[in-house]
Amino acid sequence: MTQPVTPTANSAVADPTLPQQGPVPVASAAPMPGLFVSLEGVDGVGKSTQAQRLQAYLQSRGMRVHLTREPGGTELGVIVRGLLLHGVTRDDGTPASDISPRTEALLYAADRAQHVAQVVRPALAAGDAVICDRYIDSSLAYQAGGRELTADDVLHLSEWATGGLWPARTYLLDMDYQESSRRLTGEADRLESAGAAFFERTRQAFLDLAQRFPERIKVIDASASVDEVWAAIKTDVDALLDAGAQNAGQSGSRAVESAPASAEGGA
Ligand code: TYD
Repeated sequence: MTQPVTPTANSAVADPTLPQQGPVPVASAAPMPGLFVSLEGVDGVGKSTQAQRLQAYLQSRGMRVHLTREPGGTELGVIVRGLLLHGVTRDDGTPASDISPRTEALLYAADRAQHVAQVVRPALAAGDAVICDRYIDSSLAYQAGGRELTADDVLHLSEWATGGLWPARTYLLDMDYQESSRRLTGEADRLESAGAAFFERTRQAFLDLAQRFPERIKVIDASASVDEVWAAIKTDVDALLDAGAQNAGQSGSRAVESAPASAEGGA
């Protein structure tokens, strides 16, 4: 049976219901004591720079902060990341066959499952802040929006992989592809070389997610200067922390857990 989602007192996630049709994941509103923030956006929008600023800022406010990323936030994840971004080569050095869309989604989910179990949950349980450079929304945007899997498939996989752990806040750094590709340096990896159309679809998928989850996902214009982008994030994070402090007596929750989505309508 599905039920409406009950937001926690100060969480920004109102409703992790992604699928247009079919089952509705149910949030148990289980509180986690730490602060969980993710940064998202197409490649080249400056997430890493902003993540570092956010880390320094939260530290300056007295928090212990874990800056991490997906894929590759654990030792296992580093190996999975290599497979995902560079593919697999045969013994003679020639590329093996392409990673299929389902395999790709499973590899990202495997990376995430390990990351959440090994890094994110323990840090949140200790009351620390976790800043994650990409999280579930990247799978929803890239694997569901840009490849041929449904949003349902990818959502359920990620919810299962993470036990339904969602960030309290997600900053979506948005910029058009022409601008972001100008900023990319170095050799294009497997995904970056997928082309402009793929990225425009992915960008739109991120924007659609932001419309679907307006309380959790804040869209930031990433074509502005680094300082301006940071000012927008800082203003929002200050408000988030103040709200958290006010509500700490009620739940203290600054990450959100929802019950894993079921594939066939019963959660
Ligand atoms: P990375 O070099 O870390 O990109 P960026 O610096 O822009 O974050 O490569 C991560 C790539 O993996 C990026 O192209 C997006 C992709 N990705 C997915 O397709 N699905 C996912 O779930 C995640 C986390 C990343």
